[in-house]
Amino acid sequence: MQHERLEKNIGLMGLLIVIVISFGGLAEIVPLFYLDDTTEPVDGLKPYTALQLEGRDIYIREGCSTCHSQMIRPLRAETERYGHYSVAGEHVWEHPFLWGSKRTGPDLARVGGRYSDEWHRVHLLNPRDVVAQSNMPAFPWLAEKTLTGELTGDKIAAFKNFFGVPYTDEDIANAKAEVEGKTELDAVVAYLQSLGHAIKDKR
Ligand code: HEC
Repeated sequence: MQHERLEKNIGLMGLLIVIVISFGGLAEIVPLFYLDDTTEPVDGLKPYTALQLEGRDIYIREGCSTCHSQMIRPLRAETERYGHYSVAGEHVWEHPFLWGSKRTGPDLARVGGRYSDEWHRVHLLNPRDVVAQSNMPAFPWLAEKTLTGELTGDKIAAFKNFFGVPYTDEDIANAKAEVEGKTELDAVVAYLQSLGHAIKDKR
């Protein structure tokens, strides 16, 4: 019997299993490369400014994304709390994306504009000063380190050339001047305030 031969030949069986599973995977994955919804930026999406981009790098360095996700799921409980659910078009210029899945703290996908700059400064220097029971660590060194902007232009050029983010030559030329002398705290706050504005339905 042919089927019996197949069942007894583990090599052939393995190969056929891989082919069957690949079909399922391809049917799900391939269309995502062609749908505008998943590849085109949403209206109103703006590339990070030089200072926001530096802030994002510090956010990654400090491991903020190990406690904070940036992806609101399309579930009532989440949209009630955080605002409109996240869509792919908001993240097309993110390299790497910081969606995350660990939420020791709240999701930050739409935190921009929710608090004042001053609130963020106080909170980052010592979270307990504004949220008494917070277990978020303090990041006091952010206020002490000053940015030189030495590499900022190169970073922006890399986003432009490798990832197609629509920066202009002027953005690259002005990058150093925009961040030089600012503290890391200024940069992180600028980054946080930029999050989630492209889609308006915020809370
Ligand atoms: C160990 C886990 C942890 C880390 C690491 C962490 N946070 Fe938090 N974060 C929390 C928790 C818990 C809260 C909720 C309590 C509070 O507001 O302090 C919070 C709250 C926040 C809030 C307020 C959000 C809101 O909607 O109220 C912001 C903004 C924030 N964190 C930014 C950051 C940034 C920026 C970093 C990195 C520099 C960071 N967090 C690192 C745990 C963390």
